[in-house]
Amino acid sequence: MSFDFSNKVVLITGGASGLGLACAQAFCSQGAKVAIADLSQEAIDKAVDTLQQLNGEVIGLVCNVSQANQVDEMVTSVVEQWGRLDIAVNNAGISSPLNPVAKTQEEDFDRVMAVNLKGVWLCMRAELQQMEKQGGGAIVNMASALSTRVFAGGSFYVASKFAVAGLTRTAAVEYAESGIRINAVCPGNVATPLVVNTVSPEMLKELANVHAMKRLGEPEEIASAVMFLASDAASFNTGTILPVDGGWTAQ
Ligand SMILES: NC(=O)c1ccc[n+]([C@@H]2O[C@H](COP(=O)([O-])OP(=O)(O)OC[C@H]3O[C@@H](n4cnc5c(N)ncnc54)[C@H](O)[C@@H]3O)[C@@H](O)[C@H]2O)c1
Repeated sequence: MSFDFSNKVVLITGGASGLGLACAQAFCSQGAKVAIADLSQEAIDKAVDTLQQLNGEVIGLVCNVSQANQVDEMVTSVVEQWGRLDIAVNNAGISSPLNPVAKTQEEDFDRVMAVNLKGVWLCMRAELQQMEKQGGGAIVNMASALSTRVFAGGSFYVASKFAVAGLTRTAAVEYAESGIRINAVCPGNVATPLVVNTVSPEMLKELANVHAMKRLGEPEEIASAVMFLASDAASFNTGTILPVDGGWTAQ
């Protein structure tokens, strides 16, 4: 998909792997300046290498999105580097162990919510402060098909992704008149490390079969939707919770 992001400054959390890296590749190939933030310096260095091969202007930032001071520093670093922040993709997320609610653990609840929900809130807060100062911007949050559907055993993950949709829509309404658009993409199942490291090969087949298209999604297919929502082509979209799920939630 082709969009012109020349000289646009883009921040992507969880940008060293999976969907975040696919988004970073897509934005780089369309001329954007891209900051990827992730947990490990080693993973970031590897991703930055890959992105530089696309002639991307890229920086890597170590940031744990569940820590307010690190999130604020991440946004400050992007602005120090390039003077502004046009687009933020709040993508960092983790899965939860699969257990029925009676068998779930408090530390798993806290860990999943800290990244998937608190992380998105902290990032949006810091990004919105900068976007308000500059008078505009676009935020795309990585929600999930599990923002509108449930998956038995995955209650924390599901709850966190329902909450991301709620946060997205509320903030979209709050900032609708300020030139800042806030949307979310809801991917179906895509074979990224998050999924492959959590489920068996048999389960992967089942995950493909929940889609009406009977196949898994490709990271690039999710990145295309993120780019659309971040672009001027989506100038009348805010508060959109966009399914990109091979017809899963249409059924
Ligand atoms: N893969 C799928 O099928 C799928 C479906 C729906 C939604 N999603 C969502 O897409 C997003 C990306 O998932 P993915 O499949 O690419 O997973 P992934 O594991 O390949 O990538 C996630 C990245 O986020 C980083 N990360 C984790 N915790 C972090 C933290 N506290 N601070 C900063 N970075 C952190 C990881 O290090 C990793 O690089 C997640 O929010 C996930 O919930 C994925």
